[in-house]
Amino acid sequence: MNAGKLIVFSGMDACGKTTNRNHVDMRLNSTGIGYACTREPGGTPYAEAMRKLILSKEFDAPPLSEVLMFYAGRVEHTKTLIKPYLERGYHVLTDRYYDSSLAYQSIQCPETKAIHDACFPHLVVPDMTLLFDVPAEVALERMQRTRSGEMDKIENRGLEYFTQVRNNFLTMASNDPNTIVIDATRPLSEVMDVTWNHVKHCIGYETDED
Ligand code: TYD
Repeated sequence: MNAGKLIVFSGMDACGKTTNRNHVDMRLNSTGIGYACTREPGGTPYAEAMRKLILSKEFDAPPLSEVLMFYAGRVEHTKTLIKPYLERGYHVLTDRYYDSSLAYQSIQCPETKAIHDACFPHLVVPDMTLLFDVPAEVALERMQRTRSGEMDKIENRGLEYFTQVRNNFLTMASNDPNTIVIDATRPLSEVMDVTWNHVKHCIGYETDED
């Protein structure tokens, strides 16, 4: 049992998870509560270097190599950043964690679950996962509009792939009582309020500010 809570902001590309995590960051900032924000792929200098490799269009690595890279970074990120913060009583808000690999990489790499299971003892089970759910068409349309042609290797995988990613996320959510599905097609201010309320509840923060 961790002293701090691990909260994952999850979902498809362009679902709004980063915007919502940043909003929670801003709200928590003035409370005096100890917390850290991080992300995957990345989060530490080692894993950020891997992020560049993974997402670069310069390389076309086999799906198995891609999964191994994600988990190599994740194990290091967990050991050097996530666990130490949690043990010191800080809450950790991460933009993505292992459910992203199960949703994305399992589509192209049948060994994903076996790699996940092998690494699992080195990972931390999240206290809460917020799944920002949008239909694949909406996510792709948002990506094309906001990325101005600069979509990374994974973002370029197309509608069929993203439909499968969404289904995988929703299937996992339906089997995990700690995952909360948030309809991220609603107006951003509503999604932010819902998100903040779930975070407050998870970390046991009580305030009458709202
Ligand atoms: P992310 O940083 O969320 O994207 P953005 O730069 O748009 O905020 O993630 C980068 C990409 O990596 C994204 O397309 C999803 C993908 N990804 C996986 O395929 N598997 C994983 O395990 C993770 C963590 C990310």
